[in-house]
Amino acid sequence: MRTIDWNKNNNNITMIDQTLLPAEYKVIECSTIDTLCEAIKSLRVRGAPALGAAGGFGVALAAFRSNASSLDRSIDDIQDAANTIIATRPTAVNLSWGVKRVLGALEDAKNIKEVRMFALDEAKAIADEDVEKNMQLGEHGATLLEDGDTVMTHCNAGRLACVDWGTALGVIRSARAQGKDIKVISCETRPLNQGSRITTWELMEDKIPVTLITDSMSGHVMRKGMVDKVIVGADRITQDAVFNKIGTYTHSVIAKEHQVPFYVAAPVSTFDFERFEDEIEIELRKPEELKYFGNHQIAPLGVNVYNPAFDATPMENVTALITENGVFYPPFLLNEVKVHT
Ligand code: MRU
Repeated sequence: MRTIDWNKNNNNITMIDQTLLPAEYKVIECSTIDTLCEAIKSLRVRGAPALGAAGGFGVALAAFRSNASSLDRSIDDIQDAANTIIATRPTAVNLSWGVKRVLGALEDAKNIKEVRMFALDEAKAIADEDVEKNMQLGEHGATLLEDGDTVMTHCNAGRLACVDWGTALGVIRSARAQGKDIKVISCETRPLNQGSRITTWELMEDKIPVTLITDSMSGHVMRKGMVDKVIVGADRITQDAVFNKIGTYTHSVIAKEHQVPFYVAAPVSTFDFERFEDEIEIELRKPEELKYFGNHQIAPLGVNVYNPAFDATPMENVTALITENGVFYPPFLLNEVKVHT
């Protein structure tokens, strides 16, 4: 099934609970804005494009859950829910993009029935387009990969970070569909281990060869010549930087040092080219994520902790941006990257 979808029987949202992988594959339902927000905050649904779909479906859910008897009151309820959803995670721009896109589709609604219908149609369109755009992105990105390449990736930019197919892993899927033998090195991605728990799981499901390393091994493997290309996804791309999972910047510096191409694969919905790095809030997560591994304590409970979920990689470390519109090389110009949107 898709990572996230609308369940028309219960008029609610279904999603694969990514916190349980790889031990358990479980599909959960979110029937209220509270349960959806909990699912986003705790990373049951995660990854920028999947969050875009979650934001869109969240607005539709708010439309279905509102008990308001007038159009104006219903729109007020939906707007309140939209603000709550956007506040759950600040860095991935797709979340607010998905919410705002569906809110925009409600402007012409003349009654509550139309509000629900327009919201759901737009949210479904976001989900369908995500799959289509990832496949286009994958085709463009696959031209950069040669038969026999080993690609290192960080975090999970696969089908579980999107509605389906994936961005960074979508490029690898497309290259393999073209018959190229591509192998993957997956960094474990501390502290929440999206690489070891999710990337390895979804690649193994697809029988794509993958080797797991710790994040601190990336320098070693690149120095040894074991990596031909690095491909990562993105949570937000400003004019001057790529925001992605913490650790991405370090990999980009090592890649530059060893002349390994460093590619960023992301749909245009992840671009925020009107803004600069300094204007973006980086989500700080709970200290407990570093003090415990599961239920096991791994640090003194009183220790000071700094736990940013993302870092920013300056554009000068990026070899090319891969989008549904093509592959773009420096200088990265807004009009070029966003062409045909
Ligand atoms: O905190 P997460 O798991 O939501 O972070 C996800 C990432 O950093 C991904 O690399 C990014 O969203 C790209 S997903 C195609």
